[in-house]
Amino acid sequence: MPVSALERARPPARDVVVVGGGIVGLAVAWRAAAAGLTVTVLDPSPGDGATRAAAGMLAAVSEADFGERELARLNLASAARWPAFTADLAAATGNDLPLLRAGSLAVAYDADDLALLRRVLALHREWGLASEEISVADARQSEPYLGPRLAGAARVDGDLAVDPRAVHAALLRALTRTPSGSVVRRAAAGLERDPGGRVVAVHDDDGARHAAGAVVLATGTGATPELLAGLPHVRVPVRPVKGITLRLDAGPELALEHVVRGTVQGRPVYVVPRGGGTGSGPGHREIVVGATSEERPDDRRAEAGRVFALLRDARALVPGIDEAALVDVTPRARPATPDNVPLVGETAAPGLLAAVGHGRNGVLLAPLTADAVVAAVTGGPSPDAALSAADPRRFAPAVDPAHEGAAR
Ligand code: GLY
Repeated sequence: MPVSALERARPPARDVVVVGGGIVGLAVAWRAAAAGLTVTVLDPSPGDGATRAAAGMLAAVSEADFGERELARLNLASAARWPAFTADLAAATGNDLPLLRAGSLAVAYDADDLALLRRVLALHREWGLASEEISVADARQSEPYLGPRLAGAARVDGDLAVDPRAVHAALLRALTRTPSGSVVRRAAAGLERDPGGRVVAVHDDDGARHAAGAVVLATGTGATPELLAGLPHVRVPVRPVKGITLRLDAGPELALEHVVRGTVQGRPVYVVPRGGGTGSGPGHREIVVGATSEERPDDRRAEAGRVFALLRDARALVPGIDEAALVDVTPRARPATPDNVPLVGETAAPGLLAAVGHGRNGVLLAPLTADAVVAAVTGGPSPDAALSAADPRRFAPAVDPAHEGAAR
């Protein structure tokens, strides 16, 4: 039966409408549906933002950085959720979603890179994170594909990795299979508030109104400022940090087993193998090389010089990538916040929640974000104390909403 214009314009009210169908938005929606809520995700092109570029390192320890202790706590809490998250998703879809469990090898190219690596290892010790300096010979014994000119190495056994594109595809499948879940391939054009100021619906760019008990912004670097134009007391300060990743198809002659990451004359680079079986033939595997990191918008341009530099540095660590085929070059921007901690939970506007600003850790933080948002919507306890650092209201200006009116 054809859908009438009225039905199209007034789809049934949902418990939750998620704006944005990247890995974070879909994880929120899937976990919400699993909790018995009705959910719609709005996105014209789900998974085509930062998720598309992500390498899939679940590297809570290797990503720990100076001045980012709160973020490290969040990353650890979410990393612990990944095994159950992939197991549940695999059970819901029948998709195999293996976690790479070999850990990371952190390597240094020259003496200055080794000095930096040792400072990072000292930070790990101070924060109680598990890593261990090893000799280059020992590193090469566990990963024979390491290059000949390395100054030092360390093991980070707890790091995991996953294929984010496969996880995203599985989430989309799981959500659309669930009677209570749906994905509408339209962009959000505006938020509607009731006279009391509560956000009660999202209007899409096709003119349809999606009424919701709660609206979740999972917009990545998307059109959040436009959506929030009528809500001056809500601030979602997300900036784009552009990155380029490369995908290579490696044959059996490059059976890399560990994530290899390091600095080459001060430039960070990582090489992430898939567990095998995802490449284009027997013994082939996908290898992701990443990533550039620049404070600039999502122009979707892969500059030749930056691609060259990534490959040059990656082959200094793993020379065997020379023989792999370059099959994909993906420039996208990471959505980052002023303190690099994401915005997760209730905003200053009733009915509006945030799940944005995950920066370098969108894939890693997806399970914890999903559980936190579902808890906030259902009134359950916060799943982890570390989430207090991610309160979206920390950036809200001190205004009295009573003086602001309840504009629509
Ligand atoms: N998670 C690594 C990156 O954003 O490059």
